[in-house]
Amino acid sequence: MDVRVLGSAAGGGFPQWNCNCRNCRGARAGTLKAQARTQSSIAISADFNSWALCNASPDIHRQLAAQFPIGSDAELRSNPIRDILLVDGQLDHTIGLLLLRENREPLRVWSTDLVADDLTEGLPLLRVLKHYCGIDRRRIPLDSTEFEVPSLPGIAVAALAVDGKPAPYSKRRENPEPGDNIALTFRDRATGRALFYAPGLAHITEPVRQAMRASAAVLVDGTFWSDEEMIATGVSHKRAKDIGHLAQSGHGGLIEELSRLPADVRRILIHINNTNPILDEAGSQRAQLAAAGIEIATDGMRIEL
Ligand code: MLT
Ligand code: MN
Ligand code: ZN
Repeated sequence: MDVRVLGSAAGGGFPQWNCNCRNCRGARAGTLKAQARTQSSIAISADFNSWALCNASPDIHRQLAAQFPIGSDAELRSNPIRDILLVDGQLDHTIGLLLLRENREPLRVWSTDLVADDLTEGLPLLRVLKHYCGIDRRRIPLDSTEFEVPSLPGIAVAALAVDGKPAPYSKRRENPEPGDNIALTFRDRATGRALFYAPGLAHITEPVRQAMRASAAVLVDGTFWSDEEMIATGVSHKRAKDIGHLAQSGHGGLIEELSRLPADVRRILIHINNTNPILDEAGSQRAQLAAAGIEIATDGMRIEL
């Protein structure tokens, strides 16, 4: 199984177009040692030929051009993405669906029923796209029932409801239900090795802990270093937990949680917000992660399992 990180930043990307916070300013000026990042998405393949996309970001065109360039001998219209799986209905994970409207076939989009409801009502992308390439909507079952995705032969996929928040436009924004946010596990049936992917995690429950322990690599919520980060940087009055993300630092934070995993589990943060001090490669927070054996995803990163 081959995993490709298409975009490692949270919504807005890094640097964010309208942001002059310490990180974005430093990245633009070249005074901060930090890599630019596009918005949250990964792709997975069993054969390096057909790929399943997890989340369709607003940067999808750039990401596909960078990771899957079309060779001069390709067919007239060519797209290696055969399935699209959504972990929630947030804008940074779904806007890219609109940008794929020129696809020759209906887009095969996998989501929970609740996310499909949001994408039909609050943000009716699925209805709009019926007038373009069309949608072949597939249902993601909850609670770890394994299912098959056509583009991933030999890989068992499973979804786990996680604590988080549906998008601000959702009618369930303040009353999330199981299925608004999910984690996905991709398990190679031949080797048994699995990837656990959860770009949004508000809280680590026992089922999430078990799924992480049973994986060879975890690619998890790296949005914020501290719960008050957006308040401290002045960009918002909201805490990390108010918008469905568990901060890395402090008691009960993600670093502490990841430190309890078996030593051979690879731990990687993804969906990193532009305010997060871990983006500064020379910073003390980055050093703390390194000391804890935690990696930070970059755009284009490959993970072989
Ligand atoms: C999130 O991950 O919490 C959202 O994508 C935030 C956003 O809408 O940018
Ligand atoms: Mn997001
Ligand atoms: Zn910023």
